[in-house]
Parts: sequence; C-alpha cells; structure tokens
Amino acid sequence: MLVSAKEMLNKAKAGKYAVGQFNINNLEWTKAILQTAQECNSPVILGVSEGAGKYMCGYTTIVGMVNGMINELGITVPVALHLDHGSYEGAKKCIEAGFSSVMFDGSHYPIEENIAKTKELVAICDELGLSLEAEVGSIGGEEDGVVGAGECADPEECKMVADLGITMLAAGIGNIHGKYPANWAGLSFETLAAIQELTGTMPLVLHGGTGIPADMIKKAISLGVSKINVNTECQLAFQEATRAYIEAGKDKEGKGFDPRKLLAPGVEAIKATVKEKMELFGSVGKA
Ligand code: 13P
Repeated sequence: MLVSAKEMLNKAKAGKYAVGQFNINNLEWTKAILQTAQECNSPVILGVSEGAGKYMCGYTTIVGMVNGMINELGITVPVALHLDHGSYEGAKKCIEAGFSSVMFDGSHYPIEENIAKTKELVAICDELGLSLEAEVGSIGGEEDGVVGAGECADPEECKMVADLGITMLAAGIGNIHGKYPANWAGLSFETLAAIQELTGTMPLVLHGGTGIPADMIKKAISLGVSKINVNTECQLAFQEATRAYIEAGKDKEGKGFDPRKLLAPGVEAIKATVKEKMELFGSVGKA
C-alpha cells in the first residue's frame, strides 16, 4: 500500500538521515527501485515529473502500475508515490488519481501567490492524509524544459511557507538539476543553516542529488535535509550500461535483442545506483 511521505521523513529528520526520491520513467525503472528499496529495507519515494507522467500514459496508469508492483513483488517497506515539481493543476490531478504525495512548485510565482496556492493544497492534502512538498527559491538547471536560474531561497520566505502546514520544504541552496558544471560554486551551507534555524523540525528537501559530492550530502543531512532527489544519475547509469551491452555486440548474440535482455544491464545499473545512494543517505535498514 502506498503511504504518505510524512512519517518516513519525520523519522529521517529525527534520526539524521535522508530518504531518497528516485524518479521513475517506465516499468523497468519502477521495478528496479522498488526491489532495491526492499532489499535495503529502506523507505523510498518514487518521483514522477509531469513529463514522465504523460510518457507513462497518465497518472492513473502509474498508480495502477505501482500498486500492482507493490502487491506482486511483496514490497513491505514504506513507498510514497510523489508528483515532482507539480503545477497547481497537476497536483490536483495526481491527488485524484491516487498519488500519496505531491509537490507543488510555486517557486516561479511571486511569494504571495506561491503562499496562496500552497495553502489551498495544504487543506486538500490534510483532509486526505497526503504529504505535500512546497518550494522556495529556484533549483538551477533544466527539468522538463523549464530552466531555473538557481537562486538561493530567502530563509524568511521559507519560514512563511513552512508555517502553512506543508510536510516538507524544498529550498534552493545553489543546487542544480542534471550534471553540475565544472565551475559550480557548491551548496550554500550558510543559507541551509539559516533555513534550518527558522524552520525547526520541518524536513528539508535537496533537489539535484546527481553528482553532489558525498561530503556535501552528509553535511546537508546534518543541517536538516531529510529527502534527496535523484534522477539524472539513474538515467546516466542506464545509458552507459545499455551502450556497453550494444557496443559489445551482445544484442547480436542469441536472443540478445529481446527487450527483456536488452534492458537488463541498464536495470542492474539503476539498482546499483539506487543502493549506493541509499547507503550514502543512511536510509538502509530504516524501513
Ligand atoms: P537530478 O536529475 O539532478 O538528479 O535531480 C533530480 C531532482 O531534483 C528531481 O526533482
């Protein structure tokens, strides 16, 4: 059964570790992440961007697939199905479809509008027992064609949004989606510490988990980050493994062209990436 992310994240915040949000793109991706979470006895959040939602035939298809897998694979660790960077309308659609968690990303609106829309969604999510993530300050890089400049969040604005009754707060602290450029300035721990100081027990979310050095991840967790999003790193691992399989000519051997065989190395690469992240985030054994 899908659960809200509230309990797993409050536990993570208190226990000073982070739960990974791994974005899904298809059946293989989803199965690989669920199996790894079960093997690691770790709670997990499956992230779905609006673009991936369209690709996978809509939110109701995804809810059906994930619920079916939890059942068929005998998954007993807590699993939240979460809309990633949702619009206001997208969040409502996911709630209707049966997601257990949504993110409303109102960071591109003036703060008053972000607050007003977040507040409406707090009321809906509260009534249904769903978790809600809000965002203040933009995350740099590109996601689904939307390019953010990556401005650091204002801690006072973070406090205003946290006080609305959301479950977790994503705050821009110099993090970027996708690959980090060679001249990346790193995370602003000063901003993170100021946000943590004002928001207290609120679980903080770090987007752009791909390629952040392990020491920065650990420091961010020590400063109150309890959810870390990873997408690009699984995509890169999948791509590399698939390329190696084809370049080695394995798709020409026997039934190597069978999609189940062709995709298997990529699936194994996703599993290894997810396991490595769960170990780094400290969520192994915390289910
Ligand atoms: P990456 O693609 O950089 O791992 O970021 C994922 C993310 O933050 C999704 O919201």
